[in-house]
Amino acid sequence: MFNQPQIAPSILAADILNLESDVAAVVNAGAKILHIDIMDGSFVPAITFGANVVAGLRQKFPDTILDVHLMIENPQNHVETFAAAGSDFITVHYEAIVGRDDPGTPPTSDKLIEIANEIRQNGAKAGISINPATPVSAIRNVIEHFDLALIMTVVPGLGGQKYIDDCTAKIAEVAELSDIIISVDGGVNADTISIPAAAGANILVAGNAIFAADNIAAAFEELRQTL
Ligand code: DX5
Ligand code: ZN
Repeated sequence: MFNQPQIAPSILAADILNLESDVAAVVNAGAKILHIDIMDGSFVPAITFGANVVAGLRQKFPDTILDVHLMIENPQNHVETFAAAGSDFITVHYEAIVGRDDPGTPPTSDKLIEIANEIRQNGAKAGISINPATPVSAIRNVIEHFDLALIMTVVPGLGGQKYIDDCTAKIAEVAELSDIIISVDGGVNADTISIPAAAGANILVAGNAIFAADNIAAAFEELRQTL
């Protein structure tokens, strides 16, 4: 899908009251992908945006790939809505699905495959994300059903955290398993971006490193140069 690694600015760190101009700045600077963090106050403590924000971005930025990261419980209840809003990628958390396992429900892998199929049937590409504490072996058996693997390099829920070095090894591990698109999320900045890129990541998500800068376009360009 991508000939070279791409930087996906995460709007979590953008100025929400000037979202359109912040996003325009990165799109004009060459960003092809926008990362959108959906938090529900349950899977993670914070609450962020709903599908209306995805729909608004879809309308204003028709050519930008919208990469939607669902940090929510019961993601299967929301796939249709986020797909209809114009998401290109919908990524769910392994832990949001495994955490609900109880006797009498189908095995975890069935549920993971089910949601991957549902995302694809709704016209989006399917992503599976793993937290720093979850090993790659947890998704080994289902990875072929997904288009993207999102390796969290911070504990999800908050922007501006420090890149967890121990997670780097997982990137190569996934690359060994599959030719799936590998995305890395959390603590990516000019000092750290070359680490996941060298390990084989295709998408580097960056929030604060871009949107907290005085000059958003220059910060995006600096990251791209460093890649
Ligand atoms: C963290 C989110 C990230 C976040 C990254 O839970 O999934 O996408 O925006 O922010 P930075 O780049 O500031 O670490
Ligand atoms: Zn994210």
